[in-house]
Amino acid sequence: MNKKDLPEILEPNDFQPQSTTVWSFPERGSWATHAQTGKYRGNWSPYVPRNLIFKYSKSSETILDCFCGSGTTIIEAKLLGRKSIAIDINDNAIKLTKQNLAFALPKEWRYHKPDVRAGDARDLSKIKDNTIDLICTHPPYANIIQYSKDTTEDLSHFGVDDFLQEMHFVANENFRVLKPGRCCAFLIGDTRKNKRVVPLGFMLMRVYLRAGFILKEIIIKEQHNCKMTEKWQNTSQKLNFLLIAHEYLPVFEKPT
Ligand SMILES: C[S@@+](CC[C@H](N)C(=O)[O-])C[C@H]1O[C@@H](n2cnc3c(N)ncnc32)[C@H](O)[C@@H]1O
Repeated sequence: MNKKDLPEILEPNDFQPQSTTVWSFPERGSWATHAQTGKYRGNWSPYVPRNLIFKYSKSSETILDCFCGSGTTIIEAKLLGRKSIAIDINDNAIKLTKQNLAFALPKEWRYHKPDVRAGDARDLSKIKDNTIDLICTHPPYANIIQYSKDTTEDLSHFGVDDFLQEMHFVANENFRVLKPGRCCAFLIGDTRKNKRVVPLGFMLMRVYLRAGFILKEIIIKEQHNCKMTEKWQNTSQKLNFLLIAHEYLPVFEKPT
């Protein structure tokens, strides 16, 4: 796609804002350039940020994704007329986000140029205090998918304890940059070690509570087309454990 090209389909034609705490998107969504974002390992469905942006922000407000991956959130911010900041530690993700944002919008649509830059989610010092209207983000889960070979700051290399330790810095920075009264949402799943569940989702929620956030919602997101689920199918039957088929999407609020 070229910067001047208008995508054939700009929006999902079946969009229904979610109204319960269980979200499920069997079709990931391929409008605009999302056929490309869908190729990124561990991407999220564009229906997730679309719902969050609709529900928790207004036109021209600023959305931050500090683990932007292939740019799914930022594409939605662009389509919905929001300002946006995209950050990722890996240069490849930044390159992909820029490529995936290279499409035109109809002239009459509101457009704000996204700010896309390499950086570490633990240090958002280039963003001023109390300036972001909504954080929508999707950290790498401790050690499950690795996004780089030797980037030491890449949190996808960290085991559970170290990951949670480092996420304290992310939570504190998220808290600092968000405007009071506004929302911060992230997607996280649990994991399993020696046949036992490691409740990573709840552990990370506790990190955000400690940073000062208030928990507004816990949304359960059903998982579809997950490569890890296919991989564990036989083992789960042999060892008699259930396959994890959901993730958590907690929505926090910064107190006023
Ligand atoms: C689960 S992926 C995000 C996928 C994204 N939602 C999408 O749809 O493409 C997590 C991302 O976090 C990035 N990451 C890992 N450590 C980071 C850090 N310290 N700061 C910023 N980004 C980081 C990885 O490079 C990866 O792109």
